[in-house]
Amino acid sequence: MKTFTLLFLLITIISVCLSRPHHDVGGGGFTLDLIHRDSQLSPLYNPANAPLDRLQNAFLRSISRASRLLRRAGFASKIEADISGVMGEYLMEIQIGTPPVQVVGVADTGSDLTWAQCQPCKYCYKQTGPPFLVPSSSSTYESLSCESKPCLSLSDNQLFCDANNLCHYKMGYGDRSYSLGDLATDTFWFGPTPLKNVVFGCGHENNGTFSEGASGIVGLGGGSLSIVNQLSSIIQGKFSYCLIPYFSETTNQTSKIHFGSEANISNPNVVSTPLIKKDPPTYYYVTLESILVGNNNVSKKQSSSKNEVHEGNIIIDSGTTLTFVPREFYSDLSSRLIEAIEGESVPDPQGMFEICYKDLNIEKVPNVTFRFTGAEVVVPPVYTFLAVQKGISCFTVVPSDDMAIFGNLLQRNLLVGFDLVNQKVSFSPTDCTTNMQ
Ligand SMILES: *[C@@H]1O[C@H](CO)[C@@H](O)[C@H](O)[C@H]1NC(C)=O
Ligand SMILES: *[C@@H]1O[C@H](CO)[C@@H](O)[C@H](O)[C@H]1NC(C)=O
Ligand SMILES: *[C@@H]1O[C@H](CO)[C@@H](O)[C@H](O)[C@H]1NC(C)=O
Ligand SMILES: *[C@@H]1O[C@H](CO)[C@@H](O)[C@H](O)[C@H]1NC(C)=O
Ligand SMILES: *[C@@H]1O[C@H](CO)[C@@H](O)[C@H](O)[C@H]1NC(C)=O
Repeated sequence: MKTFTLLFLLITIISVCLSRPHHDVGGGGFTLDLIHRDSQLSPLYNPANAPLDRLQNAFLRSISRASRLLRRAGFASKIEADISGVMGEYLMEIQIGTPPVQVVGVADTGSDLTWAQCQPCKYCYKQTGPPFLVPSSSSTYESLSCESKPCLSLSDNQLFCDANNLCHYKMGYGDRSYSLGDLATDTFWFGPTPLKNVVFGCGHENNGTFSEGASGIVGLGGGSLSIVNQLSSIIQGKFSYCLIPYFSETTNQTSKIHFGSEANISNPNVVSTPLIKKDPPTYYYVTLESILVGNNNVSKKQSSSKNEVHEGNIIIDSGTTLTFVPREFYSDLSSRLIEAIEGESVPDPQGMFEICYKDLNIEKVPNVTFRFTGAEVVVPPVYTFLAVQKGISCFTVVPSDDMAIFGNLLQRNLLVGFDLVNQKVSFSPTDCTTNMQ
């Protein structure tokens, strides 16, 4: 009897010790830097580019990315452009393996599987940041079999099995970009705490429009292989980010991404809207009901007012700079806006935007309010209008014939919280330059 009790005690002690790291994480959650690709802290920073060129490139990437996301959502897209860096605008530093090795990943709310370039490379794109991962150098690296649950969660066209029954993934990104490699698990480090057996892709063949300087992708989408869902028992399916204003990126401040309890948003100004389940589950779909200009009600789908607003008609994305709204909202929105703005209308020198002004007095431009189901987000003119050339400012919200995207310019100085357990997205106006949490 005594031996039995002792044994029980011993087992209890051992299991408490083993589960220790998870408790530490569960108690605190964690916060990491989100480094904008054009900030001086980014490995992709190019000092030779003038600020306006960087902005122009970000706009071009937006259009390219929008086309990638829409194609994956099943829309045929007319936009064809091969521009590197469409996987996202923000970088995250994590560590993988034992001993931990630094990885710079593109934080992508538009994809699920996290992967990094791995040696030996059958083909790897040029990587100027940290070195490739070497799976044989990590004592905790394990490849996954074809019967493993993560392997089975891949769709038929995303996986193949080899003669040794090992699971290989193939991820295509809508454009000509792809990553092929081994589906595996290893220990991930988000800061000081190790998280064991995180599923990721060890990419041995990676080519396309990926950014040099980044090792791969950190998948923050809503699908089952996303970091957010994999760590759900620890972070309760919660993450949030706070993006600093565009021009603060020239300083060395960074935006932040919070996970778990650190992603709790609790203040009186927070508003929430339900996440809508649609295919692919990767994207964060919400419902945009109307867009207001100043105090006016606009864009209640006037052109086809017999139809209801479609549920899940817009996705929230951190990796797209511009905002794309359904065309039926746009014509109304643009006419109200033009009505409300006093200024000399000029064509966009690059021909990308429809609404541009010369020497715009930004203080006289009205707020634009995005009314999501249950949540009104007021966007001040400093984010809806940007100077595309000296003296010329354009409206950064553009029409889309397919699905729409609420992009990162309009999310500046907002704490944006995703809660996959309660299926909602929350917004809270916040000075992100002081959101250190
Ligand atoms: C990688 O992509 C480039 C550019 O599209 C192409 O020229 C090259 O053949 C590709 N390499 C492999 C191994 O697929
Ligand atoms: C930001 O950091 C970079 C690299 O550490 C440095 O070269 C640059 O001078 C810094 N800029 C500012 C505004 O502090
Ligand atoms: C965050 O929310 C969870 C669940 O709602 C709660 O258990 C936890 O105490 C909260 N953490 C903080 C820091 O507020
Ligand atoms: C805007 O529209 C909503 C619903 O259609 C209505 O309840 C509200 O009073 C309108 N507000 C203004 C300022 O017209
Ligand atoms: C625009 O919205 C801000 C709050 O986000 C508010 O302080 C400001 O007064 C609004 N401006 C106008 C012209 O309504």
